[in-house]
Amino acid sequence: MAPRRKKIYEGKAKILYEGPEPGTLVQYFKDDATAFNAQKKATIEGKGVLNNRLSEYFMTGLTNIGVPTHFIKRLNMREQLIRQVEIVPLEVIVRNFAAGSIAKRLGLEEGSPLPRPIVEYSYKNDDLGDPLVPEEYIIAFGWANQQDLDDIVALALRVNDFLTGVFYGVGIKLIDFKIEIGRVWDGDFMRLIVADEISPDSCRLWDMKTGQKLDKDVFRRDLGNLTDAYTEVAKRLGVLPTNTQPIKPTLIN
Ligand SMILES: Nc1ncnc2c1ncn2[C@@H]1O[C@H](COP(=O)(O)OP(=O)(O)OP(=O)(O)O)[C@@H](O)[C@H]1O
Ligand SMILES: [Mg+2]
Repeated sequence: MAPRRKKIYEGKAKILYEGPEPGTLVQYFKDDATAFNAQKKATIEGKGVLNNRLSEYFMTGLTNIGVPTHFIKRLNMREQLIRQVEIVPLEVIVRNFAAGSIAKRLGLEEGSPLPRPIVEYSYKNDDLGDPLVPEEYIIAFGWANQQDLDDIVALALRVNDFLTGVFYGVGIKLIDFKIEIGRVWDGDFMRLIVADEISPDSCRLWDMKTGQKLDKDVFRRDLGNLTDAYTEVAKRLGVLPTNTQPIKPTLIN
């Protein structure tokens, strides 16, 4: 971490620093994990490094298929250069199978398929615990207008198709995920782009054969070692070399 950089914001999982040029930021990935609206906290060694790499991987893939994102380039193990956006104060959630709150709310078995991908929104407000909100609220309170929402749904579904395919290719089922969307201006023209991060912190990922969880639920539900789960995801995607054995010094007689 470069201490000379001006800190703009420190969140639960990341820190934003002023970037080298106007309109850019440096996003630093911490090892901190939180769940249940930060009631449960831990530091998980290596998580930030993995999420930095994985978010780079997904954002780059999205750019390559024409989905606009904030990602510019990775700077080092824990930092990436991003385009500064004005965050739309919504968590945009896409669900393919029931899990978490929708399973609870509707009495569905976790893992049961949904009739089609479902896009839902929660209002980004930690004090309120990011409550689920209908489109009617979003438009009435001016967080986004109808045109924005149409664009957001289109973006979210493209991200869903992309991620579903990428994970399918490595034997992982994409149960659901969350993205954040930001506004950027080219003169008077406003565009919406994918921001924040895409990582196992923001997805539910189940092994296709065993059903083993490879995402933040491992931490939420105390199911084992989170770094191991994220490392498995990274290895399957070829983001990390499969041979991660550290090279040990050898004694020569
Ligand atoms: N490109 C971007 N430009 C500006 N802000 C961004 C960008 N990408 C992500 N952010 C914001 O940066 C912060 C990242 O920090 P982190 O994810 O740790 O926050 P958090 O603790 O989850 O808090 P929040 O409730 O604000 O998301 C978030 O507030 C996110 O909305
Ligand atoms: Mg966040």
